[in-house]
Amino acid sequence: MSFHLQPTPPARPNRCQLFGPASRKALFEKMAGSKADVINIDLEDSVAPSDKEKARSNAVEAINEIDWGKKTLSVRINGLDTPYWYRDVVDLIEQTNGRLDQIMIPKAGNAKDIYAVDALVTSIESSKMISNRINFEAIIETAAGLVNVNEIAASSSRLQSLSLGAADFAASMGMQTTGIGGTQTNYYMIENGEVESDRAIHFPDPWHTVTTSIVAACRANGLLPVDGPFGDFSDDAGFKAQALRSATLGMVGKWAIHPKQIDLANEVFTPSKEAVAEAREILLAMESAKNSGEGATVYKGRLVDIASIKQAEVIVRQSELMLE
Ligand code: COA
Ligand code: MG
Repeated sequence: MSFHLQPTPPARPNRCQLFGPASRKALFEKMAGSKADVINIDLEDSVAPSDKEKARSNAVEAINEIDWGKKTLSVRINGLDTPYWYRDVVDLIEQTNGRLDQIMIPKAGNAKDIYAVDALVTSIESSKMISNRINFEAIIETAAGLVNVNEIAASSSRLQSLSLGAADFAASMGMQTTGIGGTQTNYYMIENGEVESDRAIHFPDPWHTVTTSIVAACRANGLLPVDGPFGDFSDDAGFKAQALRSATLGMVGKWAIHPKQIDLANEVFTPSKEAVAEAREILLAMESAKNSGEGATVYKGRLVDIASIKQAEVIVRQSELMLE
């Protein structure tokens, strides 16, 4: 174990982040009334270049005028390679009432990208004597983002989470797919056997490496790892399978690009009653093992030890967050 203890991530639910284009004002009230933990009003790729200015002023108005309840409220700004992003940041902070919680930085490629936004935000906040600091979330969705994910995760005390953006990531990596997340038909293993025989095929997860890289960078730096969009919103089973894989690998939530994906994400990322009950039983079993001077014991026929306490505590803590 390293002498440096693993930092704890922000204690707030982040099971589902619901996106909506800032150019579609009619969606804002519906987003506010949804069951998503986090709302992302989008100024970036769901908004056409001709609509950027109008979308920005819609976002400002929505932050000030809509009752967002207890939701974490975030706006995705335009990329640092565009002429829009600095004005996004300035207007979002100068023209809103303090309700905005986060700015989402897309296509983060290295720590300096986050530093640049941090410098601008810090200057605006100090010039306007704003005391509640804006937090950041960033999207890992380029080859550079993956290569530099650790320095990005460590780049700013404002940073709270990193999301995987599958579509831009696939494009940046030159992957032969136009799908947004999920199984890829051409990415399969075939069982060894006679050439002409009927051989089983298996679809591995093409997002596995980038997912685990994001999870590790986030966990090492006290951030929340989040799975991004699943494009085919008519495919509930596909969404659920992708979300279950991400949850198994340590991610805490997933984006929804349509309201019908919210319940699916909440279901996957809320620990089930059975899982919480089992985690509590493991903690009790370990407590009595400790009292008899043992570091390991048997629970339902399997080994549990001190590492099991940490795993069980993750599940119990996640369930407690949903109740707060
Ligand atoms: N948030 C809240 N409500 C939404 C919504 C959203 N993102 N998207 C659709 N709805 C509402 C619709 O207004 C409609 O409401 P109604 O029943 O009161 O009329 C209902 O949900 C059903 O919508 P539907 O007709 O199936 O979808 P649509 O054609 O209006 O929109 C999309 C489909 C994909 C264009 C839209 O969901 C969308 O813009 N999603 C977000 C895209 C985005 O932000 N991308 C960036 C991140 S990848
Ligand atoms: Mg993107």
